Amino acid sequence: MSDEGRRLDPEDWNTFRRDFHELLDTCIDRMQAARDLPWQPKPADMADKVAIGQSGNDSKDVFVRVVNDIMPYATGNTHPRFFGWVHGAGLPVSVAAEMVAATMNSNLGGRDHGAVEVERAVINWLCKLSGLPETAFGILTSGTSQATIIALSAARVRLFGDVRKTGIGNLPAMRVYIAEGGHSCVAKALEVMGHGSDAVVTIALNDQGQMDLNSLADSVAHDQARGIVPLAVVGTAGSVNTGIYDPLNALADFCTDNNLWLHCDAAFGFWSVLADKPWGDLANGIHRADSIATDFHKWLGVPYDCGACLIADRDLHRDTFASRPEYLVGQADGLAGGELWFCDYGIELSRGFKALKVWTAIEALGTDAIGAAITDNCKQAALMGQLAEQSSVLALVQPVVSNLCCFTINHGLPADIAARLQLSGEAVFSTTTLAGRPCMRAAIVNHRTTSDDIHIAMAAVEREVLNSR
Ligand SMILES: Cc1ncc(COP(=O)(O)O)c(C=O)c1O
Repeated sequence: MSDEGRRLDPEDWNTFRRDFHELLDTCIDRMQAARDLPWQPKPADMADKVAIGQSGNDSKDVFVRVVNDIMPYATGNTHPRFFGWVHGAGLPVSVAAEMVAATMNSNLGGRDHGAVEVERAVINWLCKLSGLPETAFGILTSGTSQATIIALSAARVRLFGDVRKTGIGNLPAMRVYIAEGGHSCVAKALEVMGHGSDAVVTIALNDQGQMDLNSLADSVAHDQARGIVPLAVVGTAGSVNTGIYDPLNALADFCTDNNLWLHCDAAFGFWSVLADKPWGDLANGIHRADSIATDFHKWLGVPYDCGACLIADRDLHRDTFASRPEYLVGQADGLAGGELWFCDYGIELSRGFKALKVWTAIEALGTDAIGAAITDNCKQAALMGQLAEQSSVLALVQPVVSNLCCFTINHGLPADIAARLQLSGEAVFSTTTLAGRPCMRAAIVNHRTTSDDIHIAMAAVEREVLNSR
């Protein structure tokens, strides 16, 4: 019998089923043991071990290699004392959804099928949660970096009309304003869009670490006087360095008065809307943004990757990206039907079924439980801040307002201390520089973290600082 049409499926489904079940059990064991599995360095010969070149192996053998040679060397953000950068910890229910999504293997670029309805449901839910007007819609993205490109592209179409066809060659110079310490994804978006990172204007902070409105007004007026066109203001909801939120209502007033697009970078900070007060009020005013970028893979804990871009004007959003050559023309009936094709709202044509892991998380866990975990993280960051203040060898750099805590050390270098704690498996901090001072930095977006973890991590930091004397 010819192998045609049967070459790539398992030869023996019963054997495959048994091996797959075993692999699934190993994955569940790993998730259950997350507390005991911190980051560990990869072996020196890892590159050799994973080099491709042994094709045609039995899938069972390959599963064994995955489990032994790859799975142990993850980023470590599933561990409760991982506080570095802004890494979500992952949700077991969403891992199950990922398996289903891969099984369905849907392409969410377009066409009329059930997965599209799930993404629509997720976007509708997110729009409602954000408080954006009924005219809003959006799209799931790989993360906030991609969402920022989509949002600023829509801002550009609103301001300059059909740049899609004519490009940027004839456009005047333009600027995007963001507070000092705002995320580099904005500069990157402008580089990709062809304006260059010089199009970013950094605005000074006020005494609460937020974008200073007077400085913003001065910069915009200064640029306008020089014939430079202000395109957008980026308000940050949860700054990557400090966790501080810009005054979004005041920024919305300013943008309305000056006919500027207000984009909100709420990569992780968006999710404080689910927290108890006072944190639940941090993002007040976000509903007045023209666009919002956020991530499900950060504070919501959905496994990587998944972000979202919401745009208040759905028609503008569609006009910015829709393109239907003859091979993508929609039809009245059949699979080529359906009025919602997500390829009309973003950069990608082929898109995976990210929505299912989000939908499953929200439906299975509920926003109350997720909000409680987010509230816990804010309390834990406050506790970390208190411990830093009480310590004789640490100093809090600025008050903790959300889930982020940065502190200096009075002996040794933060990067050295962070590396030692990462290597010991005790905790993962990252580092940054605030007001010229090198700091240890913790962004707590981890639903597994407890107050005990904070005490353990801070005791380990103090010990290492004292050992550095
Ligand atoms: C405030 C902020 N904006 C943007 C980003 C970039 O998001 P992503 O990594 O999903 O592209 C981050 C990442 O940490 C962030 O903290």
